Amino acid sequence: MSGRIDPLDAFRLEGRVALVTGASSGFGERFAHVLAAAGARVLVTARRRGRLERLVGEIEGARALPGDLTIEADAERIAAEALEAHGRVDILVNNAGASDGPARAASESLDEFRRVVDVNLNAVFHLSRLLAPAMIERGRGAIVNVASVHAFVGSAPNTQAAYVASKGAVVALTKELALQWAKKGVRVNAIAPGYFDTEITAAMFANEKSVAWIERNTPLGRAGEPGELDGALLFLASDASRYVTGTTLLVDGGWTAR
Ligand SMILES: NC(=O)c1ccc[n+]([C@@H]2O[C@H](COP(=O)([O-])OP(=O)(O)OC[C@H]3O[C@@H](n4cnc5c(N)ncnc54)[C@H](OP(=O)(O)O)[C@@H]3O)[C@@H](O)[C@H]2O)c1
Repeated sequence: MSGRIDPLDAFRLEGRVALVTGASSGFGERFAHVLAAAGARVLVTARRRGRLERLVGEIEGARALPGDLTIEADAERIAAEALEAHGRVDILVNNAGASDGPARAASESLDEFRRVVDVNLNAVFHLSRLLAPAMIERGRGAIVNVASVHAFVGSAPNTQAAYVASKGAVVALTKELALQWAKKGVRVNAIAPGYFDTEITAAMFANEKSVAWIERNTPLGRAGEPGELDGALLFLASDASRYVTGTTLLVDGGWTAR
C-alpha cells in the first residue's frame, strides 16, 4: 500500500439513490437525513403524507412517495416511482415497522398477528423483490433491513409474539436474500437495534418503571440515543461494507451479550 488513504471515502454516497421506508418518524426520518448528508439522493415513503412532505422540505432534492407497504398495489407504485425518479435505486432501507401488544399470545387475534407480520416481514420481502431486479441488472445494490434485538431474544416481560417472530424472520430473510443475490452484486444486511425512544416505544418511554427496566437490563446502562444508529446505517449502506453480506449488526448497548 502506498500513498495517502482516506478511509472515510468508502462511506460517501455521492451519486447514489436511496429509498427509506418508515421515514415519517423515528429512525426512518433520521436515516433520510443521514444518507442525504453522506451525499445520497433520498426518496422517502410511509403512510403519513404530511410528515413526509415536511421531511422532504428539509432535505434538498428529496422526494416523498407516500403509501401503505402492506397494500400490494401501493408497494408496486412506490417501487416504480422510486426507480423512475432517478433511473435507479442503489440503497433500500427497509425500516418501516409496527408492533403488536401488549397482547398475550393466548388471546392475541390472528388478524393482529398478521397485521404486524405484514408490515415487518412481508413488506420487506415484497419491496426487496420489487427493487432487486433493477439492482441485479446494474450489478450493484445495498439493502439494509431493520430488525431488532427481539429477533434474538424474546421480549418478556413485554408480550409481542408477532413482533418477535417477524423480526426473527427478518434476520433469516436477510441471510437468504444475501445468498441469492451475492453473485449479482446486491448485498443484504440488517441492523438490530436495542431500545430507542421513538413512536413505537413511546408508551415504554413514558413509563418510569419501563425506562428503569431498560437501563437495568442494558449493559451500557441506558437506552439508545438519536444518532447512535447512524454509523451502522452508513457502514451497511455504503462501500465501507462491500465485503459484508447476510449479517445483522447489533446496536443494542450490549442487550444481547448478557
Ligand atoms: N425504537 C426502538 O426501540 C426500536 C428497536 C428495534 C427495532 N426498531 C425498529 O425500527 C424501525 C423503525 O421504528 P421506529 O422506532 O422509528 O418507530 P416509528 O417512529 O413508529 O416508525 C415506524 C415507521 O413505520 C411506518 N409504517 C408503519 N406501518 C406502515 C405501513 N403499513 N406502510 C408504510 N409504512 C409504515 C410508520 O409510518 P406511517 O405511520 O406514516 O405509515 C413510521 O414511519 C421499525 O422496524 C422498528 O420495529 C425500533
